[in-house]
Amino acid sequence: MPATRTGAAGAVISGWGMALPDKVVTNHDLAETLDTSDEWIVTRTGISSRHIGGSTVSLSVASGQQALDMAGLTPERIDALVVATTTPDRQWGTAAMIQEQLGLSCGAYEVNAACSGFVYALVNAHGLIAMGANRVLIIGTDTLSRITDWNDRATAPLFADASGAVVLESVEGRGQLLGWDLDADGSASELLWAEVGGTVNMEGKEVFRRAVRIMMDSAEKSMRHAGITADDLALIVPHQANIRIIQAACDRLGVEIERAAVTIDHTGNTSSASIPVALAEALNAGRVADGDHILLVGFGGGMTAASAVLRWGGTS
Ligand code: ACO
Repeated sequence: MPATRTGAAGAVISGWGMALPDKVVTNHDLAETLDTSDEWIVTRTGISSRHIGGSTVSLSVASGQQALDMAGLTPERIDALVVATTTPDRQWGTAAMIQEQLGLSCGAYEVNAACSGFVYALVNAHGLIAMGANRVLIIGTDTLSRITDWNDRATAPLFADASGAVVLESVEGRGQLLGWDLDADGSASELLWAEVGGTVNMEGKEVFRRAVRIMMDSAEKSMRHAGITADDLALIVPHQANIRIIQAACDRLGVEIERAAVTIDHTGNTSSASIPVALAEALNAGRVADGDHILLVGFGGGMTAASAVLRWGGTS
């Protein structure tokens, strides 16, 4: 790994968007067909409802178009499209279908690092900018409802569908990305996995046990490279897997949970979409000011982990 993890050219997020399917499924709805209860799901996970529906392409086009509109960019100005997803609509070509529907004329490809995927894609896009690209559209989308066993009460309440997007533009100077880290530990791959064409299998308790440690290990590396401590963070955008994992992560960082972006109550776990949706909701709510430090941190199947520290706003 390089000692300095910033590219030759910096980049800033100039637009963002998010899309949730219209259909809302509450815990009470689930309890009609599963041996579970609203009280169990809320207490153990923090989830009250989730959005189900759409395809990875349709949700991506919706969030991606919002991000382009906010950035004030016409499609031909995008130099690359990177789509983080674990649930492409087809074995290949999902990013290309999104590219076509958004009217883009650039390269388009998928990145799959489970729930860490959006941060992997963000770092990847910074690499493209360091190599000369000017504007990259990054979309994180998952339609986990398609790979969830709806008869399995251990996993069905957790997973859902969503998409989030950002436009990354090159700037003079360092840009927003101050530090980043990408990790993977294949020895833990049997804890959380899905066969191609199959449904999610998970050793929930063990995933929970490791999640906080691998997220925090990654976060500490990113903060060290950024030259900041947790005290400097205005906003933490964690992967939304379980409110108890988010709480434990905040405890480990020594910051109050109010500094975290939390959507899990109404989104559930949307994997690659989880971090960009939580970021978009926090930005839309005006929670971030110029100069604020933001930590994005995720973990997921693989097992993977990833984090990034951004300083919002200017370019110096
Ligand atoms: N409703 C009611 N009871 C349930 C349910 C349910 N939906 N699910 C499990 N139970 C029962 C179990 O059978 C068990 O009963 P028992 O004590 O009689 O054996 C009891 O509740 C406790 O089950 P645990 O699995 O021990 O419950 P736990 O507190 O660990 O919570 C959970 C389970 C929510 C899955 C938790 O372990 C967790 O969040 N793990 C991490 C999941 C995660 O982060 N996944 C990442 C996905 S990221 C990606 O890449 C897709």
